[in-house]
Amino acid sequence: MVTGAGGALGTDLAGLLRADGERVTALTRAELDITDADAVERAVAAWAGADRAGDDPAVLLNAAAFTAVDLAETDPDAARAAHEVNTVAPGLLAAACARHGARIVHVSTDYVFDGAGPAGRSAPDGGRAGYEPDDPTGPAGVYGRTKEAGEQRVREAAPEAHHVVRTAWVYGGTGANFVRTMARLAGERDTLHVVDDQHGSPTWSRDLAVGLVALGRSGAAPGTLHATGGGVTTWCGLARAVFEELGADPERVRGCTTAEFPRPAPRPAWSVLSPASWTAAGLPALRPWREALSAAVVRHPELLGPAAVR
Ligand SMILES: NC(=O)c1ccc[n+]([C@@H]2O[C@H](COP(=O)([O-])OP(=O)(O)OC[C@H]3O[C@@H](n4cnc5c(N)ncnc54)[C@H](OP(=O)(O)O)[C@@H]3O)[C@@H](O)[C@H]2O)c1
Repeated sequence: MVTGAGGALGTDLAGLLRADGERVTALTRAELDITDADAVERAVAAWAGADRAGDDPAVLLNAAAFTAVDLAETDPDAARAAHEVNTVAPGLLAAACARHGARIVHVSTDYVFDGAGPAGRSAPDGGRAGYEPDDPTGPAGVYGRTKEAGEQRVREAAPEAHHVVRTAWVYGGTGANFVRTMARLAGERDTLHVVDDQHGSPTWSRDLAVGLVALGRSGAAPGTLHATGGGVTTWCGLARAVFEELGADPERVRGCTTAEFPRPAPRPAWSVLSPASWTAAGLPALRPWREALSAAVVRHPELLGPAAVR
């Protein structure tokens, strides 16, 4: 079962499972509002009961979230919605899964960390280390706090049957995202200034979906894992890569600092999540982010704008 099936990740999860011939119950927000406790119970009971008749494990992949991070910071109604969708609802889903013998894979975010980077540790190559799942959290904004609390509700409601998977910098074929925005701006402006002091790992939603499906099919122990595209860049680095994919001059993208481009929600300066937990669980590493971007724009040429659609 996929919840939030109309979003970037949810669309890819549902598409992938269908292409694999799985029986999948994929529900968009219009089909299941995950904040509606009665509706969640009914939907999970019906699905898990039906699914148990077969051999497949019953796994609920929760891709639903309130993701408007700036709005959550500035609008009290949005903050309340973020709490309901990101904190309360994952607990409802996990509890329903526990009641009906299903497992839940719940997706969370780099925003649960403060962005200062893990203290006192270097990466194997001597560089700066990525966050491990057990590193202390410390979200700096509303969205991150609601997501962190949602993780906790999932762990409490389904202690033996949950996976919390934190990811970062997600883009895909569905909805607004950074890649699409940069491609549009390439057609509108001669030069762009893009933040060059926030580091992270761009993640194609389809690669993440492949990983989450592998996790759902695996016998991995319950717990928290990190999964992003491989490697590290900045938003400026990602914007330059989009220009390269367009055949435009990447030098038209100039680096700037976070301070020069203030936003309502604080962004983590260091969003890098170590893949060690993922590979230690026997799961296939997501491919390097740059390779993934090239594959993504082949699959979704519309990401690069109307002119790029072949
Ligand atoms: N995008 C990123 O950069 C990023 C980074 C780190 C982690 N994540 C996490 O990755 C997961 C997937 O995110 P995404 O990028 O696919 O986000 P997305 O495209 O915004 O998709 C989220 C989906 O959840 C739906 N939704 C919202 N409220 C709901 C409700 N009450 N009941 C059911 N569905 C509801 C949304 O529907 P509407 O559009 O109708 O509201 C949307 O279809 C989320 O857990 C997110 O926190 C994302």
